[in-house]
Order: sequence, then structure tokens, then C-alpha cells
Amino acid sequence: MTQHVERAFFGSFFHAPEYGGFEFLKDALIEVDACGVIGRVVAKDDPEQARLMAAYRECGVLTELGEGRFGLPGFVDIHVHAPQWPQAALALDEPLYLWLEQRTFPLEAKFADLDFARAVYVDLVEQLLARGSTTAVYLGSAHLASSIELASICAERGQRALVGKTVMDDPSANPEYYRDASAAQAVEDTRTLIREVEAIGRASWQGVWPVVTPRFIPSCTDEVLRGLGDLAAETGAYVQTHCNEGQWEHDVVLERFGKTDPYALRDFGLVGPRSIMAHCPYLTVEEGEMFAEAGAVVAHCPMANAYFSSAVAPVARFRAQGIRMGLGTDISGGYSPSMYENIRQAVVASRLLETGVDAQRAPDERGGLGGDVRVSLAQAFWLATAGGAEALGLPVGVFEPGRAFDMQVVDVKRRDADLTGFGVFDAPEDRLARILYLATPDNVRKVYVQGRLVRDKDAE
Ligand code: GUN
Ligand code: FE
Repeated sequence: MTQHVERAFFGSFFHAPEYGGFEFLKDALIEVDACGVIGRVVAKDDPEQARLMAAYRECGVLTELGEGRFGLPGFVDIHVHAPQWPQAALALDEPLYLWLEQRTFPLEAKFADLDFARAVYVDLVEQLLARGSTTAVYLGSAHLASSIELASICAERGQRALVGKTVMDDPSANPEYYRDASAAQAVEDTRTLIREVEAIGRASWQGVWPVVTPRFIPSCTDEVLRGLGDLAAETGAYVQTHCNEGQWEHDVVLERFGKTDPYALRDFGLVGPRSIMAHCPYLTVEEGEMFAEAGAVVAHCPMANAYFSSAVAPVARFRAQGIRMGLGTDISGGYSPSMYENIRQAVVASRLLETGVDAQRAPDERGGLGGDVRVSLAQAFWLATAGGAEALGLPVGVFEPGRAFDMQVVDVKRRDADLTGFGVFDAPEDRLARILYLATPDNVRKVYVQGRLVRDKDAE
């Protein structure tokens, strides 16, 4: 019975199998097979546990998390701009169109240089892993070679990843120094990316997948949007883009097509069950229904929305409409590479959406939605783990049989980051709240992807 078990992990684990709740698996034994997939979760009260533990210890395959340490599922960050990593925290006072034109395009253009790209991408992948992000969905720059390089780096460093080459071909919307040479070339490059990244993914341990990536409608011609929609249909590849992010984008698209972003994207064949739509705070009820029906995913980026959207995405409504959702850092529209920080921001933003913000007005005139619009900490934890997994259709995010074993080990007692409740607050919900709200990168000691240890800060 034990022969297929490659490793076993004993300790206490938190995860969120259902939206809105969490489970605490105290003193549980998780068996992981030779493919890095969870075989069984043996609970503390299972009469077999003691015997199995003894057997695994005997043959040297047992890892014990240790006192004061908790296993959490690795995070699934479903929206990250890899080439924007050097400017994280910079220029966030500009409106989106100026931020793109003056800051972001000049930076992304530098990724024509493969050595530079490699140096930045290696650092980014390491830093995301160091914060517990075991799966990431990346937008690369508009360069084919450096985007393929990013996929190789993820494969090499052990991060599960989806990687796209950003497409932006419209000569009237993008600078000459940084855009696709033509619509045809952009589609051809994306086809090459799909082929190359699929090969990298097949050779990788944990999986890497290509993504068809029109930047957003305002930077793309009709021809390229149609071409990419056709390519997505032909290949079945993932699609990612920005959708309904802000007023400016909303108005530009409406003026150009006489319809809003979601419908325009749909009509180009870009909205389907493998489509990841970033931001979406302006998504109407009707548009949300269309997304739910199509199976499209909303990448909620609460930090970036505070800077660029002038609005808070109504997560509770999206969930109630049955839209699949995950959480994204949106580096560098969001300044933080940490999903912990985005979990916090998802909660905080929802509270402002509930109440509105101008205390000089009467409570019912502050623009708050009232009602049931809060995102609880447990819901945000779900979005960052199981929700992201569901959004991507990948078996990760929860400690249960059949899912890949992606885990971050959080030590709650570091010298400069004590997440214990000092013996006063030891209930599981208190422990989880202190971890999610207060953890620093230093608390995340070990990170496993698909059963493999990819980061071990205890050994550094
Ligand atoms: N819309 C088009 N490009 C971008 C980008 O790089 N970041 C954000 N937040 N929105 C965009
Ligand atoms: Fe973005």
C-alpha cells in the first residue's frame, strides 16, 4: 500500500476547499506520489496514521513541518506583467494611458535584450516563489524571444506558469520603438510561442503553458484581434487580456465598436472557458452573465484597481453570478509581488465598496453598495488558491487527492514577524488570520511545487 508514496508530509495545514470557508487539518499526514500528486490525506484520528508515520519515517520519506509551522497551498497569481518588475512601486500617480506611454512601454521595450530579460525574469520568478506563489500567469513583453525565455526560466526554477507574448500591433496606439511589426507577424509570433512554450511545458516537471495575449483592445487592430481569436480557437490555448479596467478604456472601446469591451472581445473569439480577463471593475450584470455562460475568468487585481480603475470590482456580485475568479498582483499596476498583500487589499477594498468613502455625506449617500458585498479573509484566501486553480482548470490549490502538492510552509515565529497569538489566540481562524494579514516573506520558509522543494530558506 505504501509503495507508490514518494514522500509524506506530517503537520498542520490550512486550505480553502470551498468559497467562504477554510479547513484546518491538524496533525495530518499527506502522501505524495512519484509525480508530485497527493495520494491521500490521512487525518489525525485515522487509526492507520501512526503505523504509516512509523513506516515512512523508517524508510526516510517523511517530512515533518515542525512546531509552529503550517502548510498552506501555494498561491495562484493569475495576472502578472513580468517585464514591469523593475518599475514595481513606481509611477503609480499617472493615469493608465500616460503610465503606459511614458513609463511602461519604454521599460518593456528593453526586453529586446535577452540578457537583461533573463536577469529580471530570474529575479521575479524567485521573488514570487519566495512569497509562496507556486503558479503564475504571466504577460511577457511584446518580444517573442524573451517571452519564450521567461517560460524556460519558470520551467527551470520549478514554478508552474502560463506565459504569453504581449501583442500590441496598432501603429496609431503604440510607439514605433515598441510594437509588433504587423498584425500578421504578431499572430505568427504567437503561433511560434504556443509551439515553443508547449514544448518547454512538456519537458518540465510542473507544467508550463502558452497564452494568447492581446494587451487590450486599445493597443490592437481589428485584424490582430480576429487573428488571435482564430488562433485561440484553433489551438485551444489560454487567452489573457485586460478588460473593462477603467473609464478611459471603456469609453475608447465603446466609441470604436459601438459596444463595450466584453462584447467586442467575445465577437473576436477571445472570450471562452480558457480566457482570463484582468480587472473588470466596469463589468455590468449583463456582461457578467455573458462571462459566466462562456466560462470566462475574471482576474481580480484589487491593488492595481485602486490606482488605475477609479472603482472597486464587485467580487461578491461576480461570484453570485457564477463567474470563475482568481486573484492577481498585476505587477506593476499593483506594486506588490505578494499575494498576501493582494488578499489583504481584496478584503479592504470590498469594505470601501460596502460603505462608500466620503464621511461628509450621510451614510446612505457615500456611494457604498451596502448589502452583502464584503470579501471575507477566507474568501480572499480561496480566491488566491482554490479559486485560481479552478480559474485555470489546474489541479492545484487544495490539499486533496489528485491535486499536485504545491505547498508553502509558514513559520509563525520569526524574530521580526511573530504571527502567534501569544498563547491567547490559538483558534485555527485566529492563526489563519494572523498568517494571512501579517506574514512577511521571511515567514515563508519552504516552497514546494508538484512535490518538489523549490525554495528552502532554512538552508540559505
Ligand atoms: N492595460 C493595458 N496594458 C496594461 C498594463 O500593462 N497594466 C494594466 N494595469 N493595465 C493595462
Ligand atoms: Fe495588467
